[in-house]
Amino acid sequence: MRPLIAGNWKMHGTLREAVALAEAVQAGAAGLPADLLICPPFVHIPALAAMAGRTVALGAQDCHAAAKGAHTGDTSAAMLRDIGATHVILGHSERRADHGETDAVVQAKVKAALAAGLVPVVCVGETEAQRLAGEAEAVVRRQLAESLPDDFAGIIAYEPVWAIGTGRTPTEADIAAIHATIRDSLVARFGAAGQGTHILYGGSMKPGNAKAILALANVDGGLVGGASLVAADFLAIAAAA
Ligand code: G3P
Repeated sequence: MRPLIAGNWKMHGTLREAVALAEAVQAGAAGLPADLLICPPFVHIPALAAMAGRTVALGAQDCHAAAKGAHTGDTSAAMLRDIGATHVILGHSERRADHGETDAVVQAKVKAALAAGLVPVVCVGETEAQRLAGEAEAVVRRQLAESLPDDFAGIIAYEPVWAIGTGRTPTEADIAAIHATIRDSLVARFGAAGQGTHILYGGSMKPGNAKAILALANVDGGLVGGASLVAADFLAIAAAA
């Protein structure tokens, strides 16, 4: 399948910086061997959606599980769709940790995203303690089982929590093993659709390690944090796909 390289900008950038970064990504997007997705903070989505001749897909970093209601400070999936997002990252480990999001909460958000016509990018991944205890595969299997609804259609991102923003990554064999586990789980539950589901790797992906990681079986792209804030690095990762 054609790789997807997604940038999770997290809570970075002024509006001006966001537009400049999106324009630089857009300027280098033609001819790459991968599709590109950028996920800026909510407030920057409208300006980026209005960019002329945009070929880079736009996503958000979260949504609420409810369609509407008394949820101060939250944003619904339909609102995101309305302002031009097509994707939404859900269940990122920073949301699981900072906002106490459980697998059940993530599943409710995935359902809301699907109902609004957004493509969910569902994140899973073990902590360092879980990896050291030999529980990584079991954790990821459980997160998939409990975070995905039966009608799931979307993208999975494997992000080992201990590799996010640390400059550390699992070995290539460990990445391949977890991606194979994810593929098995998806195929067992969703059949052919599971075979065609993109499984992204995320966690300290950089231009220097992207080629080796993206060449692994069942690694269908990347979910890039820090390196997605530098257009040249993000594009170099996409070029390595
Ligand atoms: O969602 C992407 C992310 O968590 C990875 O961050 O900075 O390690 O590439 P980073």
